[in-house]
Amino acid sequence: MKRIAGVSLPTFVAARRDEAESALSAEIVELLRQEPDAVLGLATGNSPTGVYRELRAAHAEGRVSFERATTFNLDEYLGLGVGAHGSFRRTMEEQFLSFVRPSAAYLPELEHPTDDPRAVAEAYERALHAQGGLDLVILGLGQNGHIGFNEPGSSRESRTRVVELHPTTRAGAVRAFGSLAAVPTHAITMGIATILEARAIRVLAFGADKAEIVRRTLQDEIGPTWPATYLRLHPDVRLYVDEEAARDVVTRSATGRS
Ligand code: F6R
Repeated sequence: MKRIAGVSLPTFVAARRDEAESALSAEIVELLRQEPDAVLGLATGNSPTGVYRELRAAHAEGRVSFERATTFNLDEYLGLGVGAHGSFRRTMEEQFLSFVRPSAAYLPELEHPTDDPRAVAEAYERALHAQGGLDLVILGLGQNGHIGFNEPGSSRESRTRVVELHPTTRAGAVRAFGSLAAVPTHAITMGIATILEARAIRVLAFGADKAEIVRRTLQDEIGPTWPATYLRLHPDVRLYVDEEAARDVVTRSATGRS
């Protein structure tokens, strides 16, 4: 992988997406070897699927155990019902959690129709605190700059909370739900402050659709217009991208190999 020099965050460009997926998966395997009770924050969506596939394979081959690990899904739609089609719980169960079976998996979702979403968000933050915080969080980037479901306008200080989904986020979810009307209007998300407290943050972005937000994450003014820019306030972030996603990044110097 090539590291882009002269940009605001360590950014690694993979010739093929699976190079980046293997690198991040290997880092997580090593983290769990050193700290078997590590706490991981997990994004759903297209970007991390290959990392989950690699980790499943490592687990199946006995190269890693999640027996003592704890996971926190970053976000969840409101109003779908537990484990419903399109819910992040269901997707994550199907792609990852049911295979590796972490010691505990925290999901920011309503278990019962009567649950108060604010109480659910507060309980999730308390659980995270009780576990000693996140050792590593895997993120994707929304085209509108969201991380988790921290939509444009989210503050640096935001905590796990209920949010209204941005029109572009809802439009992007039509494929998963069949129609715009079926896409939930609200969600619960881990906050920006919560994410920035993770000890390490690893971000995945692949494909030309992510070129603009990768450029903005690295180069735009830090603030709520493009929440992913807040990542530059953290001391241990790495971006893993492919060549298409990196194509608009303007560098101050030549690229070097690492
Ligand atoms: C999902 C999440 C979102 C996605 C982002 C990118 O849990 O937190 O921020 O990471 O919308 O989605 P994909 O990876 O599908 O392009």
